[in-house]
Amino acid sequence: MRLLFLDHAGVLGGAELSLLDIARHHRNTSEVVLFSDGPFRTTLEQAGVTVTVLPVPERLLEVNRADGWRSLAALPAIPQVLRALAPFVRQADLVHCNSQKAFALGALAASVSRRPVVWHLRDILTADHFSAANRRVAVTLANTFATKVIANSQATAQAFIDAGGRRDLPVVVYNGIDPDAFEDLTPATARQAAGLDLEGFVVGAFSRLAPWKGQHVLLESLAQLPGTHALIVGDALFGETAYEARLHAMTRSLDLERRVHFLGFRRDVPTLMAACDAIVHTSVAPEPFGRMIVEAQLARRPIIATRAGGAVELIEDGETGWLVPPGDAGKLASCLSHMLTAPAERRAISQKARDAASRLFTRNAMLDAFRDVVEATRRAPT
Ligand code: UDP
Ligand code: GLC
Repeated sequence: MRLLFLDHAGVLGGAELSLLDIARHHRNTSEVVLFSDGPFRTTLEQAGVTVTVLPVPERLLEVNRADGWRSLAALPAIPQVLRALAPFVRQADLVHCNSQKAFALGALAASVSRRPVVWHLRDILTADHFSAANRRVAVTLANTFATKVIANSQATAQAFIDAGGRRDLPVVVYNGIDPDAFEDLTPATARQAAGLDLEGFVVGAFSRLAPWKGQHVLLESLAQLPGTHALIVGDALFGETAYEARLHAMTRSLDLERRVHFLGFRRDVPTLMAACDAIVHTSVAPEPFGRMIVEAQLARRPIIATRAGGAVELIEDGETGWLVPPGDAGKLASCLSHMLTAPAERRAISQKARDAASRLFTRNAMLDAFRDVVEATRRAPT
């Protein structure tokens, strides 16, 4: 089966890194069309994937998930995109849409050319993340055009149904990560390899900078943990530069400049994770899946995550990590200070987590589950 993968983004977010693994695996029978250029294109090309960047009018890309019905103003730009997409869609047996914007355009293009379309839903469709208008449009398009909705967690699937999505559409395919990418390094060796000259307890945050990812909660809790350092790894990928500036201002006003290290977007996440003593996930809105949680487990580092969304499906509290309430800097600080004093517990939990993650959330498991969905569309009526 020939697959056409569509994604609106040119940056390397979690959705794109996940598609990278899928597209690389199917590279001989697929191609990728992106609506923006950037490092995602070059990374796909290096992986031997055929990629085309099809620039779409700015006003379509600028439609924001928080926008209301005024985003309908972008509608007149759609026909020209459908015309440009048509030759790609006609060559495909299945159109896979990796983002909401890609799905809106891909669903219409697939319908015109009578091709089955799958929406890979990697977002939680609730008011925390999307306007009511945005949810309504997305769910209506899915109910009308999608053959299947691949949800990256049960939480994502449930939110789709709660938003009015058809119950028969979602199928859960968990993200998977290659366990072999994570070497068993001591923090000291990893710090040396990453060129980090740091002493003492180091906590890492590995997410793009965005208000809902909640790095500000880590800064607040760090103010309660004298001597602890934090690595903030990630960049404002989707224009959240005001939040980035807020994090820097907070670091100054809390007098944390010597203990907080902003490393920007990095390609050596496994080594940087190994350089930490603990890793935190601080999202203040439900996380659809949270690849960095599984990566922390594979890196054999204890993970504290917020109890919401897909994160709850990845961690057994007190067994393979810890869960704390979203937005609660006090609880995060007390969990971290408990960890500081309990190295044996940290080690035991990290080992259990590594075992669980390398059983449940591997790249191969994801590729198998993905293939099953693709095969099922061969049989499904369109
Ligand atoms: N990541 C990265 N470099 C960075 C920060 C993050 O490669 O500097 C990766 C991280 O390892 C993870 C992905 O970006 O694989 C983020 O995915 P996640 O599901 O945690 O969150 P998303 O950004 O997709 O909401
Ligand atoms: C999205 C979600 C994230 C998920 C990733 C991969 O970017 O925000 O939680 O892990 O997609 O599916």
